[in-house]
Amino acid sequence: MKPQFIVIEGGEGSGKSTLIRILKESLGDLIMTTREPGGSPYAELIRTAAIKNPLAKDAPPETTLCLMFAARFDNVANVIIPSLKKGVPVIADRFDASSYAYQISSQSSLLEDLFWSMRSKLMVTPDIYVFVDVDPEEGLKRAHGRNQSFDIGYDHFDDREITFHQNVRKGYLKFFEKVKALGTPCIIIDANRPLETVKKDFLIQMRQQLGIK
Ligand code: TYD
Repeated sequence: MKPQFIVIEGGEGSGKSTLIRILKESLGDLIMTTREPGGSPYAELIRTAAIKNPLAKDAPPETTLCLMFAARFDNVANVIIPSLKKGVPVIADRFDASSYAYQISSQSSLLEDLFWSMRSKLMVTPDIYVFVDVDPEEGLKRAHGRNQSFDIGYDHFDDREITFHQNVRKGYLKFFEKVKALGTPCIIIDANRPLETVKKDFLIQMRQQLGIK
């Protein structure tokens, strides 16, 4: 079986990064995990500029979209493809759906063509998306509890108002409809439930998807 490329997506405070950490703890070297923006050393540098630096907050959406794809092309070339070539499945914490949800749906719908054009240049696209779906208000509450410090957790998207995050969620759902029509499935995990239930559900679904008992 060809190794899979699985993307985990979700809005602020959805808990997806925790779920991926738990999955990695449970599966170890059977999988490779990566995150976006970032993953490869060069893409991590772009991450710092694109989401950690306060200047990023006022950047035009074109700049942010291109930075996200710049980081993505590097992560694909240096982490994702090499791992898949070795036969190791890749689990990514965010990928192209994040750019659609944040930059296109929430920032500028005028960039939709540019998004699909850059997406078409990716050397690999996901086999499946897993959407960790939380109500945006609840998600923001969780994220704010976590990101008190500017140094540790700061991400300028957390500062945006609720409508931004509601548009992120709508963008995700629209994106998943579009890729479904292109043949890529999406599993939705309801993250409004208690964390223990979500964890269990996520681990079962991922093992099933990866074909690991
Ligand atoms: P991260 O610390 O990974 O946040 P989270 O724990 O919520 O996943 O920060 C990633 C941030 O970058 C997040 O706010 C979403 C944003 N982002 C985009 O706007 N576009 C993108 O293409 C990607 C990959 C992320």
